[in-house]
Amino acid sequence: MYVCICKGIKEADVEALGRAGVTCPKLLASTLEINDKDNCCGRCINNISDFVAIASKHCKRSPSPIQA
Ligand code: FES
Repeated sequence: MYVCICKGIKEADVEALGRAGVTCPKLLASTLEINDKDNCCGRCINNISDFVAIASKHCKRSPSPIQA
């Protein structure tokens, strides 16, 4: 299923990034180039939390411990 028509990004692409450990919103946006308003509609950046949720679901890394 496509999650971004402008860039032709499929849910599987976001899952693959999650498996590679990419779950940060800024890193996902820059890697997928959905933050490039000159070359896309900009709609997806408003749904970045959905991308994070998909990537995080497939990330094998454990969350970083919280430093006190
Ligand atoms: S549909 Fe994803 S940026 Fe346009």
